[in-house]
Amino acid sequence: MKLWGGRFESGPSEIFERFSGSLHFDRRLLEPDIRGSQAFARALERAGILTPEERAQIVQAFDELLEESRDPAAFDGATDEDIHTFVIRKVKEKAGAVADKIHTGRSRNEQVSLDTRLWLREAATHVGEAVKQLMAKLLDLAETYKDAVIPGYTHLRRAQAVLWPHYLLAYFEMFARDHERFLAARRAANLMPLGSGALAGSGFALDREGIARDLGFAGITRNSMDVSADRDFALDFLYAASTTMLHLSRLAEDWILYSSEEFGWLELADGVTSGSSLMPQKKNPDSLELIRGKAGRVTGCLHALMMTTKSLPLTYNRDMQEDKEPLFEAADQVTASLQMARTVVESVALRPEIPFAAVQKSWVVATDLAEELARRGTAFHEAHQIVGALVLSSVREGKVPADWNDASLAQFHPAFTAGMARLLDPREGLKTREIPGGTGPQAVAAALAEARRRLSTM
Ligand code: ARG
Repeated sequence: MKLWGGRFESGPSEIFERFSGSLHFDRRLLEPDIRGSQAFARALERAGILTPEERAQIVQAFDELLEESRDPAAFDGATDEDIHTFVIRKVKEKAGAVADKIHTGRSRNEQVSLDTRLWLREAATHVGEAVKQLMAKLLDLAETYKDAVIPGYTHLRRAQAVLWPHYLLAYFEMFARDHERFLAARRAANLMPLGSGALAGSGFALDREGIARDLGFAGITRNSMDVSADRDFALDFLYAASTTMLHLSRLAEDWILYSSEEFGWLELADGVTSGSSLMPQKKNPDSLELIRGKAGRVTGCLHALMMTTKSLPLTYNRDMQEDKEPLFEAADQVTASLQMARTVVESVALRPEIPFAAVQKSWVVATDLAEELARRGTAFHEAHQIVGALVLSSVREGKVPADWNDASLAQFHPAFTAGMARLLDPREGLKTREIPGGTGPQAVAAALAEARRRLSTM
């Protein structure tokens, strides 16, 4: 069936039909399409276009269709152009001629906007929940090893000692922002477009605010041309999905490294790793590698839709049908990746003695020492020079921080005074970083408790 055709002498070619049809992917919009159409039928009744009996008959037919379409076989053999056409054909089959009135003053341009917004509201909530579940697991893992000390890196070189929970809280913050981005994407989509018509506004006096209330929207869209042309709300969702994937990918990359033989701190569970078909010893981090790989795919979805909408003349163009596959793809991949990451996080084990040994044998305490010199009156630049020289001589002689004490430090340079050798122990340096947001043990304990509280109110 077609929703048009009066103006045509012959039908579409088979190649064009196959090329342009979208039912195989926009069937996901079945429920939003039906819910939206039911609300539209009620609006038509309020506008005096449908009688209460006609409205009841149509709404009932939609309900039946929704019920029977839960079976995927309901789409078998359907050759309709898109989900909107499919739904109307089916409703006509059920309700008869009265269904011919359902599309009064309505265009698929606004309908597809409505359906996508309804779908996206659910998807954003759903993905947001998955983000929160991962955040909860990160906090659990932080608490399991709450005193572990690891090297923090810059340039992938050991930089300063940090607490393991401090490291995990960095990811907690990233995912908290992602969660907020999904909420923002939901807000952007949560405006009701029906009544916009094809582009110029409906020719029927529809109660738009009433439709918005009926469907639980926060308000109505303000410009009919914007409705037909706009896919920003989809881009907002794709951006949220992309930043989430970027953060997941960075976590994956860290842990691929940290669980490698070269680092050796993390043990990934058997259940999230794979073996090699040739090398019997291998235990590969495929789950994390796939998360990292899928990040490329999801950001590709964002770019695909950006490129599709760039330069489109106002208002609707069929190009815009290309929005749905990237949107659905990104939602699926980010949901699966969050779930996978959660499983990795809840099954990973840290071997705290290994990162701590890395901390002790490197010179990550150098900054702590230089700052202590500065606290005791040496200008920081000079302190930096002194400790730099200490590190250089130690590296030459193969000495680690623990090889020094107050006496030998004082001998190395008179600026080192009694008690400073304490800072050769990385745990002492941590205590100097009790600033809010820092890795001091009390600051981290407070941040962890606060993170729990925040998560419970998100
Ligand atoms: N399947 C179309 C889409 O997804 C629905 C809108 C069709 N509108 C049109 N003017 N051809 O964009």
